[in-house]
Amino acid sequence: MSVITTQRIGDVFVIIADNPPVNALGQAVRAGLAEAIGQAADDDGISAVVIRCDGRTFFAGADITEFGKPPVGPSLPEVVDLIEQCPKPVIAAIHGTALGGGLEVALGCHYRIAIASAKLGLPEVKLGLLPGAGGTQRLPRVVGVADALSMIVSGDPATAKRALEIGLIDRLADSESLADAAISFAQEMIGRADHPVSSQRNDRIAEAANDPQVFDKFIAENSRRLKGFDAPRACIEAVRAAVELPFEQGIKRERELFTTLVTGTQSKAMRHLFFAERLAAKIDGIPADTPLIDIARVGILGAGTMGGGIAMNFLSAGLPVIMVEREQAALDRGVATIRKNYERSAARGRLTGEQVERAMALLTPTLEYDDLAECDLVIEAVFELMQIKKDVFRRLDAIVKPGAILASNTSYLNIDEMAAETKRPEAVVGLHFFSPANIMRLLEVVRGAKTSPSVLRTVMALAKRIGKIAVVSGVCPGFIGNRMLSPRQREAQKLLLEGASPWEVDAALTEFGFPMGPFQMADLAGLDLGWTAEGSTSSTIREVLCEQGRRGQKTSKGFYDYDANRRGSPSPETEAIIADFAARSDLPQRKFSGEEIRERLLYPMVNEGAKILEEGMAQRASDIDIVWLNGYGWPGFTGGPMFWADTIGLQTVLDGLKRHADALGSDFTVSALLKAKAVAGESFNP
Ligand code: 3HC
Ligand code: NAI
Repeated sequence: MSVITTQRIGDVFVIIADNPPVNALGQAVRAGLAEAIGQAADDDGISAVVIRCDGRTFFAGADITEFGKPPVGPSLPEVVDLIEQCPKPVIAAIHGTALGGGLEVALGCHYRIAIASAKLGLPEVKLGLLPGAGGTQRLPRVVGVADALSMIVSGDPATAKRALEIGLIDRLADSESLADAAISFAQEMIGRADHPVSSQRNDRIAEAANDPQVFDKFIAENSRRLKGFDAPRACIEAVRAAVELPFEQGIKRERELFTTLVTGTQSKAMRHLFFAERLAAKIDGIPADTPLIDIARVGILGAGTMGGGIAMNFLSAGLPVIMVEREQAALDRGVATIRKNYERSAARGRLTGEQVERAMALLTPTLEYDDLAECDLVIEAVFELMQIKKDVFRRLDAIVKPGAILASNTSYLNIDEMAAETKRPEAVVGLHFFSPANIMRLLEVVRGAKTSPSVLRTVMALAKRIGKIAVVSGVCPGFIGNRMLSPRQREAQKLLLEGASPWEVDAALTEFGFPMGPFQMADLAGLDLGWTAEGSTSSTIREVLCEQGRRGQKTSKGFYDYDANRRGSPSPETEAIIADFAARSDLPQRKFSGEEIRERLLYPMVNEGAKILEEGMAQRASDIDIVWLNGYGWPGFTGGPMFWADTIGLQTVLDGLKRHADALGSDFTVSALLKAKAVAGESFNP
């Protein structure tokens, strides 16, 4: 069946695309569109044209799978030009998402009509690109520079309502009658003398042309977000060209910038992540028709840091939550924190007061385990001690109805041991949320030895429902993320004893693109997690810091000293403590370059990732990338640890590990998989 069909309604020619799942503008669609527009232009019986899509959405963009392959014409810019140059008025009828090349097609049309639920955006920047089919030149001409810059550089879509306000669309239509409304719109436009042509409009860019500061101001205001990424700067540069150059030259500049980006490593990395995120949801060996368990009510055990945050995910998605604590004070604290978090969101305009109350009304706090009986899923988030977890699982098994899922939020412990305490090991699964659990998008789903396919599929679907990116991990200490964090932490500590300062170690990672380094992270989390004054033995740098009242940001000092604005600066006191430990360690002291620090911290992580793969603890290398990107701030433009290793070459990693063998210690072993792939010249990702 053809991806493009046409209809004649009177003298209106309707071009319909149907290219599931998202009507990506692949070669066949482009060719079909070009041919149909040509037909409309040449046929005297046609007075106006409507372009619309069947299926769930208007064109959601260029076909990303075509990037990196030899281009086959017609190109998208050519198709958009043909549409714009059509002598008959062309109307885009938009539902779902008009994204990237999809919005560029719509901008080539003379008029745009959309239903209220539609979203319109240029998300190319999220793929390390810029809109390459005229979007950077036409959007500012249609909506003005300020809105165009913010849409193109953030990549976030606008709602149809907002699109109407800024002039991106001309009309709203009822969702049931978009096709008819578009035809009526087309009929109305027939006979008008001039139809707006986006590329020829200059009214909306005139303001910026008189205010060249607008770009510098935008860069200054967004500098943090722009750090490390090539694409946002190229986007700004292209929009600047729209203001400073005639359209044709602006388009040329857009093309040059697009070509540089699309052939570069950053965009390759970010496209890898786009597909990796979608692949992570797929579980090998589980048939798609595996039945799902209906989850209508969720129980949470423990109202501490994690329990409260986890509860919010479900409350926000409209699911009732029963939250159980062992003591009233902890329960009250937990409920109050949830309310405070919601109210803060409301104060920032992200929720209405009514939404806050609706979420809170779904929460039932209680001290009675028995109240969990009717839950379909119970997640425990009590203290991280196996004995307590085992007791909890025994109790839950006795109380919660048969068929319900029992989950643990443990960070490191063995799910199978917990499952063994129950008569339903097939219903036990790990759901490892990240802190703050209401914000962080990552969820590690830990598949126990006996976890059933149905339970697994259910929690993956549930994760999507609450807006999480779920990655499946096998049972091993720390699962994927924390297991790979361990070697990094170990090396960071060792470097301090060899002469590197915490600030040098942190800087090496922030230069790489992490939002913060290990010592800044420790200060933020609090150095006294799991530490007590009574149990302290002055045997680690961290213990001594805590003993001296240096417990992290919350006490205004930790590894760093903090000012009133929580800005950290190097601390001579910390340096003295480290020097004392270093002297006792007898290790030779020396200077480290940023490059050497990165090799010492990051290569062992890649090595651990390879072990995770060879043991089958992760389904695929790209899942590991998704974990580190979404759970630990690994910079997106490098594609994640495994993709990054592929980029620099596995032999480079292997050589580095060999070079640092003495420092890594005799208990460090190189992964057999890493070795084999390096020798064979292969990569982790296909
Ligand atoms: N090209 C190729 N495949 C695409 C695609 C695209 N632009 N967009 C989505 N897909 C695929 C996905 O990989 C997925 O495949 P799978 O089923 O095999 O895993 C399938 O379509 C469904 O996608 P989602 O699971 O993401 O479906 P959702 O309903 O959750 O989301 C969406 C739909 C909002 C459209 C989302 O897919 C999306 O954001 N897509 C990307 C949009 C985008 O970035 N467009 C710009 C492309 S670049 C461009 O246009 C360059 C131009 O300026 C020249
Ligand atoms: P927390 O100490 O803040 O909260 C634990 C809560 O559980 C306390 O309020 C306590 O009163 C309650 N509790 C203890 N035993 C109970 C029982 N038998 N019945 C009912 N309630 C009980 O701890 P936190 O940080 O929330 O951690 C909970 C779990 O989540 C741990 O397994 C931890 O490893 C894991 N986790 C923690 C993360 C973090 O960053 N804090 C991140 C990811 C997982």
